[in-house]
Amino acid sequence: MRDLTSDTITEAVISTMGDTKDARVAEILDSLVRHVHSFVREVELTEDEWARGIDFLTRTGQKCTPTRQEFILLSDVLGVTMLVDALSNRRPAEATQNSVLGPFFRDDRPELPHTADISGGLPGTPLFFEGRVVNREETPLAGAAVDVWHSDAEGHYDVDVPGLADASAMRALFRTDEKGQFGFRSIRPSSYPIPGDGPVGELMSATGRSLMRPAHVHLLVEAPGFQRVTTMLFPSDDPYLDADPVFGVKESLVESFDTYEAGSGPCREVTDEPYTLVRRTFVLEPRPAD
Ligand code: BEZ
Ligand code: FE
Repeated sequence: MRDLTSDTITEAVISTMGDTKDARVAEILDSLVRHVHSFVREVELTEDEWARGIDFLTRTGQKCTPTRQEFILLSDVLGVTMLVDALSNRRPAEATQNSVLGPFFRDDRPELPHTADISGGLPGTPLFFEGRVVNREETPLAGAAVDVWHSDAEGHYDVDVPGLADASAMRALFRTDEKGQFGFRSIRPSSYPIPGDGPVGELMSATGRSLMRPAHVHLLVEAPGFQRVTTMLFPSDDPYLDADPVFGVKESLVESFDTYEAGSGPCREVTDEPYTLVRRTFVLEPRPAD
């Protein structure tokens, strides 16, 4: 292994890993080395560019804290998160599709009864959500766990709303009843930018990309014996649907967030101001047998 050249170094590196015990680790490392070397050859990476790349990755790591994961954000904006999801969760079109989990899920949310108001008293257009969880035969799934979380009318999650960080709002865990139903009241979420004050923000601005995610309501639906669905619903009139920086929008997740005048529509007795109603059925796929 001496006098290696740009033509021989790839095989030389791979040959050093011949004792890798785990076959899957060996496969991944082999492919990783080949692809990284091919990339360097293809773009003829200069020493200066290599140093800038190392600096970018170093700063990406340094930006990470217990509540900020810049590497996952990098994976999101490069489409890797959704690519891994697509390969891992191939579902028939009738089943509810996945989207990104994002950084704002919290497992210390309250479990609340149906029709609970989770708005935390924040201002915004009232949102009524009526959900149903079924299997592909339309049989209701009772006792399914449904996590919901979303931003406020300014695009902030509770953790970023002054005075709310420890209280938790616009998030809750619900359990479906015997008809597979759950529901809640909240406020209509707004579009918001992904964090732009780190290396990922630099990448986005260098490539002329917008940071704005379309408005959405996150849901995580789980029922025993079924595949977990990590998903979100987007209002069909959102202007950012076709430019989501994390590539999470799927046509089947675009939903009408119908707005009604005060005193009209299905919830007319419940509100004296205009409101939005979302009705959605979530279709779960059985978990494959082990
Ligand atoms: C979110 O929807 O909460 C989100 C997803 C990916 C990156 C940043 C935010
Ligand atoms: Fe979000």
